[in-house]
Amino acid sequence: MAKYRIAWLPGDGVGVDVMNAARKVLDAVKLDAEYLHGDIGCEFWCKEGNPLPERTVKVLNESDVALFGTITSPSKEEAAKELAPELQGKGLIYSSPIVTMRQSFDLYACVRPCRSFAKNPLNCRENIDITVFRETTEGLYSGIEFCPIPEDVRVVIEKHNTKMTRFNKFPAGEVALSARIMTQTGCERIIRKAFEFAKANNKPSVTLVEKSNMLRETGGLMLRTMKRIATEYPDISWNEANIDALCMWLLKNPERYHVLVAENMFGDIISDLCAQLVGGLGFACSGNIGDRYAIFEPTHGPALKYAGQNKVNPLATILAAMMMIDWLGEKEPARRIHAAVAVVVAEAKARTSDMGGSTTTSDMADAVVEALKRV
Ligand code: IPM
Ligand code: MG
Repeated sequence: MAKYRIAWLPGDGVGVDVMNAARKVLDAVKLDAEYLHGDIGCEFWCKEGNPLPERTVKVLNESDVALFGTITSPSKEEAAKELAPELQGKGLIYSSPIVTMRQSFDLYACVRPCRSFAKNPLNCRENIDITVFRETTEGLYSGIEFCPIPEDVRVVIEKHNTKMTRFNKFPAGEVALSARIMTQTGCERIIRKAFEFAKANNKPSVTLVEKSNMLRETGGLMLRTMKRIATEYPDISWNEANIDALCMWLLKNPERYHVLVAENMFGDIISDLCAQLVGGLGFACSGNIGDRYAIFEPTHGPALKYAGQNKVNPLATILAAMMMIDWLGEKEPARRIHAAVAVVVAEAKARTSDMGGSTTTSDMADAVVEALKRV
C-alpha cells in the first residue's frame, strides 16, 4: 500500500495541463502515493447540478490531502444558464466548490507564500519574501447575503441600528446586503497560525491587514485578538495596516513585510497583490490548511481560452505540490522541488509565455524534472 492517498482534482480549464505537469515532478521525487481522481467543476454543475459531487466529497474524506487545479467562478445568472435543460428552473444555486470545501472541511488557513525567485523577469523587485495567512471560513464569504432584504430582517436591523432607515426609500429589489461575520475563534486561530509560522521561520514581524477604523466591530474584534495573541510572541514585532494603504506600501517597500494576516476578503485581495510582486499568477501557490486536512492549489483561475493547449506556466501548481508534500512531512523532496524551480528560473532557458518565452507547460515540467537531478 502506498504511504499517502492523494485526492487529485484537476477541475476546469487549464487545470488538467498544470496538474499533469505537477504529477511529473511528484513522480520524479518518487513520492510514494496513490492518486484518487475526483470530479469537480463546471462540467458537473452543467450535467448534474453540483460542481462538487458527493462522490468527490467521499474521495476527499478517504484521502490524506488533496491537490486541486482550477475552477471557474460564474455569476449566479451565468451558472443558471449553463445548466442542462432538465435541471433548469429547479432552484439550483451555484456555489464555488473551493469555497465549499474550505468551509465544510474547516480549512481555515489559506497560506500563500510569495517569494521571488532570483532572475525571474516578472519580479517587481528581487528578494521579496512575504507569506500571506488568509482566513477562509468566515468574513464576507460566509454566504449570508440578501437581495431583496426580507422585510423582517430589515425591521430587526433597523430596530438595533437606525442607520438602516437611510435605505428605506429604495425599492426592496434595489437594496442588497452581504454580511461580514467574524468570530473570536476564527480571528484567533488564523492569527496564531501566522505567529507560529513567523516563530518557526525566524520572521521578524507579523502585519494585520484590516480596516478597523471603519469596520469597527469585525475589524475591532480582529485587532483586539491580534493585540492579545501578540503578547504570547514577544520576540516578533507586529503592526496593523489598513488594507488600502498597505496596497501602496507593498508596492513601494515590499521588503519591509514578512508575514501578513487577514480575514477572508482582504486576504483574497492582498494575496493577489503579493503574487504579482513575485511574478504573478504563474508563480502563486496556496495551501488551504485545517487542523486535520489540507487542499493545495495554484492561486490562478482556469484560463479557459488556453485549456488543453499545453501553454500556461505550471510552476504555481508545481509549487503547490511542493507545499503539499512539505505539509505531509516530506521535507527533503519539498526542498529539492523548490531548489529545482529556482535553478530553472535562474538559468533562463525555460520561459513560458507569461515569462516572455515559448516553453510549453509540459516542457517546463520536464525542465524542473531535469533540474531535480542537480539539487
Ligand atoms: C482565490 C480565488 C477564490 C476566492 C475564488 C475562485 C472563489 O480568488 O482562491 O483567491 O475568492 O477565494
Ligand atoms: Mg483570489
